[in-house]
Amino acid sequence: MKAIKDSAAGVVIAIDGPAGAGKSTVARMLADKLQFDFLDTGALYRCVTLAVLQAGIDPRDEAAVVALADGLHIELDRESVRLDGHDVGAAIRTPEVATSIGAIADNIEIRQRLTQWQRSWTRGRRVVTEGRDQGSEVFYDSPCKIFLVATREERARRRLQELQQRGIAADYETVLRQQNQRDHEDASRPVGGLRKAQDAIEVCTTGLSLDAVVDKLLKLVRQRLAKCAELGTQQ
Ligand code: DC
Repeated sequence: MKAIKDSAAGVVIAIDGPAGAGKSTVARMLADKLQFDFLDTGALYRCVTLAVLQAGIDPRDEAAVVALADGLHIELDRESVRLDGHDVGAAIRTPEVATSIGAIADNIEIRQRLTQWQRSWTRGRRVVTEGRDQGSEVFYDSPCKIFLVATREERARRRLQELQQRGIAADYETVLRQQNQRDHEDASRPVGGLRKAQDAIEVCTTGLSLDAVVDKLLKLVRQRLAKCAELGTQQ
């Protein structure tokens, strides 16, 4: 298990799943408990989308998007997301960004660049990452992959609650419809689409509290890492 022989330098715990399965909150909490860094890969796609919108470029103009993206400077850490030196933590979470992000996520050259960005960022670190393609593509050699799911209805209820807490008016039926559309886009993307890696552990979060999910993941991660360390020492 080569990945673990390298573990003195770095380990990536890869968490994937559909929107609303609880990935982001759970991955952050898990990273805190393990004292690992945290990487929100959706924020990268959101930064590129924001920059494209700010530049007035058509998100479907692949070449123009790539040319712009090549000049961008994105910095992520536990507390902030910075695009060319500006804090864009709130600006990347607007409905305008959400509406245009599909074209950016479909852009294969953008995916290649962001994949490289993610691999460089994690090199030598102990990191919990979350996204759609972490276990299946970006960190296919991760010793610990988790695929987080929840029923469509539960995910839509959580999303509705989140919007209401942010003071945004929304109704359940609309949220569910948008979610179905996003699930379809995420699953049908030929490169970087949402896919469960063969060796990923599926965890269903329906009906579980955040603490219960994190405890469950913590156990699974510790078991996997211990197992891999054991195999590593046997080689
Ligand atoms: O996780 P999120 O909602 O912030 O992600 C926003 C969009 O970015 C999502 O609809 C698909 C895309 N994305 C992706 O294609 N690959 C990733 N690793 C993360 C996000």
